[in-house]
Amino acid sequence: MVAMNFSNKLSSIKKKHLYRSRKIIERSKDSIIVIGNKSFVNFCSNDYLSLSNNPLVSEAFQRGVRKYGSGSGASHLVSGHSRAHHELEEALADYTGQERSLLFSSGYTANIGIFSALKDDLDWVLQDKLNHASLIDANQLIGLPLKRYTHNKIESLEKKIAKQSGNGLIATDTVFSMDGDKSDIDSIAKIANSNDAIVMQDDAHGFGIFEPNIPINSIYMATLGKAAGVMGAFVAGSEDFIEYLIQKSRPYIYTTAISPAICMAIMKSLDLIKQGEQKEKLISNIDFFKQIAKELNLPLSDSVSAIQPLILGTSESTMKASLRLYDSGYYVSAIRPPTVPNGAARLRITLCADHTRDQIKQFLIQLKDAIQ
Ligand SMILES: Cc1ncc(COP(=O)(O)O)c(C=O)c1O
Repeated sequence: MVAMNFSNKLSSIKKKHLYRSRKIIERSKDSIIVIGNKSFVNFCSNDYLSLSNNPLVSEAFQRGVRKYGSGSGASHLVSGHSRAHHELEEALADYTGQERSLLFSSGYTANIGIFSALKDDLDWVLQDKLNHASLIDANQLIGLPLKRYTHNKIESLEKKIAKQSGNGLIATDTVFSMDGDKSDIDSIAKIANSNDAIVMQDDAHGFGIFEPNIPINSIYMATLGKAAGVMGAFVAGSEDFIEYLIQKSRPYIYTTAISPAICMAIMKSLDLIKQGEQKEKLISNIDFFKQIAKELNLPLSDSVSAIQPLILGTSESTMKASLRLYDSGYYVSAIRPPTVPNGAARLRITLCADHTRDQIKQFLIQLKDAIQ
């Protein structure tokens, strides 16, 4: 029997500066979070469009609870699939220009769900080196070898694909979660086309901010807990593909459907996303952030998205910078291996629509100081 003694293992994680801990958020509003009795400006939330606190979204959520109660009570294929789920799926299909969409309880399960449905149909999978952990886990769970091409290098994908035979899938993040750069979906689709492979994109960090670019005969997954400000995820594609997922995707079939009230909240978020006002504010904040960072000579990576990483290298230096910022009232968590490659620990700074210009400027001044 394996001894239930983990203290040595925990000490070893601590020694490597890789120990992870959670902060308890007491309240949050307008990019401000309260931890203990101190307020912080949050620069690491994925609530890019600041919709998680939007009063119209909260009201829709409450209306949903009044109409359906708190939970769905069952999986989709039993009695958990409400009118609210169905209408949201139709709205998401419409928004992405696809025939149908299917809701999942999270992006992690959606990725596992896609791979698990395709398990018997695939001979190989190729993944960008920097794809999200959920895509890597999904690949491993279906028992196919993990084959990765160099990050965002189309030539590397071409070389690797030439060595594959049978039916395959190319999987990529659309906006990379730790680097904030975008994949070249059009070029990937071209290569996939000429090799009879399927493209699957994970648009967790682009949905709501950039127009979806979904090549024909491809699979699109996006999450609803980031820019949409609520929770869950969806897969969009052809009528037949979605129906196939319903039949074959175990993480879809064997789990309780998310609450219908959540669907009503997401429906309101989608309306606000379509109106575009929050997106404009976010884009203007990203531009302002980049301009001030440049003036301060901060060595930020090149990213046009809400994710603006500052790579510091070691876990120790990144932890130090994160703590110094924390002491000055700014919350940016330190991202360390194995989330990012060894030697590429970073502050993953994220911008939101409701950050004020003053918050951004003061933060960057403190950041410069924190990394000295
Ligand atoms: C690229 C990417 N895909 C999938 C996920 C998982 O999404 P969720 O948080 O909804 O499980 C994340 C979130 O962290 C992500 O960054």
